[in-house]
Amino acid sequence: MYMANRKIRLGVNIDHIAFIKTSRETLYPNLLDAVRISEDAGADLITIHLREDRRHIQDKDATDIRQYAKVLNFEMANTDEMIRFAMELKPDYCCIVPEKREEKTTEGGLNLTSYSDTQLKKLELTISNFKKNNIKTSLFIDPSHESINIATDVGAELVELHTGKYANLFNTIDEFEALEEVSSASKYAHTKKLLVNAGHGLNYENLSEICKLDHINEINIGHAIVSQAVFTGLSDAIKKIISIINKHD
Ligand code: PXP
Repeated sequence: MYMANRKIRLGVNIDHIAFIKTSRETLYPNLLDAVRISEDAGADLITIHLREDRRHIQDKDATDIRQYAKVLNFEMANTDEMIRFAMELKPDYCCIVPEKREEKTTEGGLNLTSYSDTQLKKLELTISNFKKNNIKTSLFIDPSHESINIATDVGAELVELHTGKYANLFNTIDEFEALEEVSSASKYAHTKKLLVNAGHGLNYENLSEICKLDHINEINIGHAIVSQAVFTGLSDAIKKIISIINKHD
């Protein structure tokens, strides 16, 4: 097995493999094979998102993967249904994400600045209940200082910075500004003693710049890896990402 010896951890999101399985309600592609191949290729953790509409990962997939994955990061909306599910599942990490039925994917971070007191209290309660159950919670947020302040106030230990804006603006005149937002948020979150993860839209071209930033603890990548895996296989696709991380670590 590949021994991870890097500072930046890699979470491989296997939702898109689950999507192929769910779209035909077949037993293949086998998600436990995806976990094994990812871990053997050097993934530090496996990430799955159980969506309200169950468009990719199913409940049983999540429980099977929990039994099998060495380190599991469970993405979920902060709903009563998902909180109950996560308490039973006991993943190592939970990442709270916003969720809209009509979106193609998680299009932005949690809009914490517009949260009501009730929503903030609920988030705080989820984080503290998860903590009591040894689940570390991260909040998926846009890279802004305001969101980081609120994440700290509600007791988060980790944040995942949404890199979608940077990814969309990559190779345009506005790329640097978007990267600077992620960079500044990462530094600020570090001063607040938060661990800083990053993800969304990262791929073989745009990843390097993110790896050069200070204080990045972990990156989560799904779509680009699974897309590359169609041509070269999952193991190679992951190793190629790891070689990019290693260049900057
Ligand atoms: N991180 C989080 C919190 C996500 O919800 C997702 C999927 O939207 C990802 C990372 C991975 O994004 P992508 O599939 O674009 O690599």
